[in-house]
Amino acid sequence: MKATVYEGNKTFSVIEKSIEEPAAGEVRIKVAFVGICGTDVHVYHGNMDKRVQIPQTIGHEMSGVIDAVGAEVKDIAVGDKVVVRPLDDRLQQESDKGISHICEKLKFIGVDTPGAMQQYWNVPAFTIHKLKAETDLKLAAMTEPLAVACHDVRMSELKKGETAVVLGGGPIGLLIAMVATLKGAQVIISEVNEARVAIAREFGFTVVNPAQEDIIAYVQEVTAGRKADVVFEVAGVQPSVDVMTKLAGIRSRVVMVAIHAQPKSVNLFDFFWKELKLIGARVYEKEDYEEAISLITSNTLGFEKLISEVRPLSAIQEAFEAIDNNPAGIKTLLDCQ
Ligand SMILES: NC(=O)c1ccc[n+]([C@@H]2O[C@H](COP(=O)([O-])OP(=O)(O)OC[C@H]3O[C@@H](n4cnc5c(N)ncnc54)[C@H](O)[C@@H]3O)[C@@H](O)[C@H]2O)c1
Ligand SMILES: [Zn+2]
Repeated sequence: MKATVYEGNKTFSVIEKSIEEPAAGEVRIKVAFVGICGTDVHVYHGNMDKRVQIPQTIGHEMSGVIDAVGAEVKDIAVGDKVVVRPLDDRLQQESDKGISHICEKLKFIGVDTPGAMQQYWNVPAFTIHKLKAETDLKLAAMTEPLAVACHDVRMSELKKGETAVVLGGGPIGLLIAMVATLKGAQVIISEVNEARVAIAREFGFTVVNPAQEDIIAYVQEVTAGRKADVVFEVAGVQPSVDVMTKLAGIRSRVVMVAIHAQPKSVNLFDFFWKELKLIGARVYEKEDYEEAISLITSNTLGFEKLISEVRPLSAIQEAFEAIDNNPAGIKTLLDCQ
């Protein structure tokens, strides 16, 4: 079979390797599609060389079909369409208080351990979520980022009729906007990249480019001074952190979705003055995956419009280079077969 490996130094190679039997408690998946996520691009850029054991097969946004089932695996059969929830929480401890998805010794499969960018992939059976037989496997490859969005919106306790501002209209921001709209919220996206502004508008979203328009004044006006009930910070930059507390109305919630690798300055006076709540949201739990799967299955939101490109697995190097050259694209999928 063909597998890809990240070799360091912005290089992927395609190798031949033998198909392995799944160990007890594992399944083998014939991988259909793998999405390239911002984290994978960070790996490609060498920003995670300390964490990724080079050479490593990466990839965690995927869909596929069960190809073999190891001993002791129940309720999963060859031919089942599936996605993987790439969290290995087996080192969970008492001190994690049962909150397994962010337990201290969590391993993120596809970063800390081998990932999906190969034709066949063996994973622990507990990571599997089954799909309906009619599910489109291209769309299903977006289950993982959609589950992030479902988790973020759930953590925000967003209610029908509330106003949500999503700072950053990348893949995650767009998916949050979609899920928030389904909850019956009025959604405003803030995005500085004009190509992405255009994509978000194609989905019918209200989008403000804060480099061209005063977003605080805009949100103030459309909410009759109430401002946002929930602000999702999904841009990951200081200007967005600066504006998040300004956009939040009295007793509003700010949800931190972006990964800020470095400490940033935050206007804590605004938190005190308006009794704001800051909510961290990291990955997803089982129920978020189930919600994402049901949204993918019904596809009332038109997820196919998020797919900018599909390339064969063997063109992995070109796929990452193309993402560097066109940062406005939303989702590139690798076709693993
Ligand atoms: N919480 C989690 O578990 C989780 C999971 C996946 C991704 N993330 C993080 O979420 C963030 C978003 O992910 P993504 O893949 O959509 O990233 P992305 O970089 O593609 O999207 C960020 C967007 O913000 C826009 N932006 C930059 N400055 C802005 C500003 N001042 N105002 C408004 N928009 C601005 C960019 O143009 C870009 O489109 C990243 O930080 C990522 O690491 C978190
Ligand atoms: Zn991802």
